[in-house]
Amino acid sequence: MVFFEFKDGSKVPALGLGTWNLTGENGKRAVAKALEIGYRHFDTAEAYGNHRIVGEAIAESGIERKEIFITSKVPSRSLLKEAVIESGKRALDELKTDYLDLFLIHWPNPSVPIKETLSGFSELKEKELIRSIGVSNFGIEELKEALKEGVKIVNNQVELHPSFNQSRLKSYCAEEKIIITAYSPFAQGKDLKLKEINKLSEKYNHPASQIIINWIIQKEMIAIPKSGNEEHLRENFNALEWKLAKEDIDLIDKIS
Ligand SMILES: NC(=O)c1ccc[n+]([C@@H]2O[C@H](COP(=O)([O-])OP(=O)(O)OC[C@H]3O[C@@H](n4cnc5c(N)ncnc54)[C@H](OP(=O)(O)O)[C@@H]3O)[C@@H](O)[C@H]2O)c1
Repeated sequence: MVFFEFKDGSKVPALGLGTWNLTGENGKRAVAKALEIGYRHFDTAEAYGNHRIVGEAIAESGIERKEIFITSKVPSRSLLKEAVIESGKRALDELKTDYLDLFLIHWPNPSVPIKETLSGFSELKEKELIRSIGVSNFGIEELKEALKEGVKIVNNQVELHPSFNQSRLKSYCAEEKIIITAYSPFAQGKDLKLKEINKLSEKYNHPASQIIINWIIQKEMIAIPKSGNEEHLRENFNALEWKLAKEDIDLIDKIS
């Protein structure tokens, strides 16, 4: 597994499993299968309603907690300090864990001052209930406001795929040493059909999914593709066994 280091010193596996829509027994089976294949990073959120099945699959795997990286997110309706703390504690209870590796503001909410929200995050961190603090769906202006508070924001999880490469946001985050997590890396399947991606798939003799995952990770971003299908889980996990040439990374950069 490739790891990145956040600016607070924590290490994060560059490939994780997105768990949106993985719910119930089928969802739990997919998480358990992912653990068996080797995934050690899981992206969940209060809004996904699947903390319990993710927690159960992890607990039943017998894999040590410290080997696993768990991200969750506080909903934008819960951004007052006390609500952030309650949401964090609820996530721990539901996931049956003592800490989250990364806790994110799921979406910005302009009606709540960011200082108020971040004070809740800082308290969770002081109590060692979360290890790292991040945001999601933040644009450059929202990040600038947030960074003024002096809290170490290490991650911004945003929609990013070959047909939507967020190049301005990516440059700004690089300047601030904020690692991007690319969500919907396949554009929910649409980018797997792009002609440029399929040409590269033929050239390398590797599936389109692996071309996209490698592009994201070689650009030093985290990829969290979702799959509930064993074959796809394996295919996505095995992406890290090979690399794209620089010229092909540049080619994918030019798609959007
Ligand atoms: N922070 C946010 O606001 C936010 C928003 C959206 C998503 N997310 C996170 O990002 C994760 C991923 O995004 P996403 O679920 O929107 O979409 P995605 O990962 O871009 O695409 C998922 C789709 O691709 C299919 N797929 C996966 N691997 C495949 C493969 N190797 N070959 C062919 N098809 C494949 C899946 O079907 P199968 O299940 O059949 O494999 C599913 O239909 C989410 O689960 C969630 O954790 C975060």
